[in-house]
Amino acid sequence: MKMIMLGAPGSGKGTQAARIKKHFGVPAISTGDIFRKNIADGTELGKKAKAYMDRGELVPDEIVIAIALNRIEEDDCRDGFLLDGFPRTVEQAEALDKRLADRGQRLRFVLLMEVPDVQLAERVTGRRVCKNCGLSYHVAHMPPAEEGVCDSCGGALHQRNDDREETVKNRIGVYNAQTAPLIGYYETAGILKHLDGTKGPERVFEDIVKVLTI
Ligand code: AP5
Repeated sequence: MKMIMLGAPGSGKGTQAARIKKHFGVPAISTGDIFRKNIADGTELGKKAKAYMDRGELVPDEIVIAIALNRIEEDDCRDGFLLDGFPRTVEQAEALDKRLADRGQRLRFVLLMEVPDVQLAERVTGRRVCKNCGLSYHVAHMPPAEEGVCDSCGGALHQRNDDREETVKNRIGVYNAQTAPLIGYYETAGILKHLDGTKGPERVFEDIVKVLTI
């Protein structure tokens, strides 16, 4: 099962990727998480990526493509993977298709999370993430049992650097300009599945399970 989560910032990709990983046992790979880990570790890659991420811009294709394509070569991806946040440009999508085709493989599903722009900013600015395990919460829609503390591991919750209001606006604009063209790209390939991301997280997941178990 090789698949992609496509959708704007705040459309629920990460939330659903965690559920899919648990339910179907596929590795969920987030290029955003890879960059954040490198930033936390102070690597050269992290330093390069941070400047783009803090402005709400995309990290250049040549950097992201190498990282994502190397990651899917790892052993745990042999029987399938879920990419969350990659590809984000047509160039990235073509590079992924080519790498898979070289191995006689192809993508099976692209899950498109559809949420109107007006709801996205509210979701992202209200997001809080566990510093320890990365689990995502929302101050209003998905609060933890104890404020500021992760239900799952007890870690401290924090707001992502790029979740400030002005950066979020730019990220949504960048999605519409540079990533939304992938909707047509995958529609043409016949593998795009539309999901109503405005439903509650459990309902969205039920819809995803239906799509993936057809
Ligand atoms: P990345 O980390 O991938 O961020 P993003 O795509 O902007 O997506 P988000 O993580 O903001 O949102 P999400 O859709 O995962 O929503 P979530 O489930 O958390 O990328 C960050 C940056 O890295 C990019 O801006 C770029 O600079 C760089 N980058 C990464 N990949 C790249 C690439 N391929 N090319 C170039 N640059 C790249 O949910 C959001 C909030 O809503 C949470 O609070 C959650 O609790 C809540 N929520 C979730 N589902 C629901 C629901 N159904 N109802 C109500 N609330 C919900």
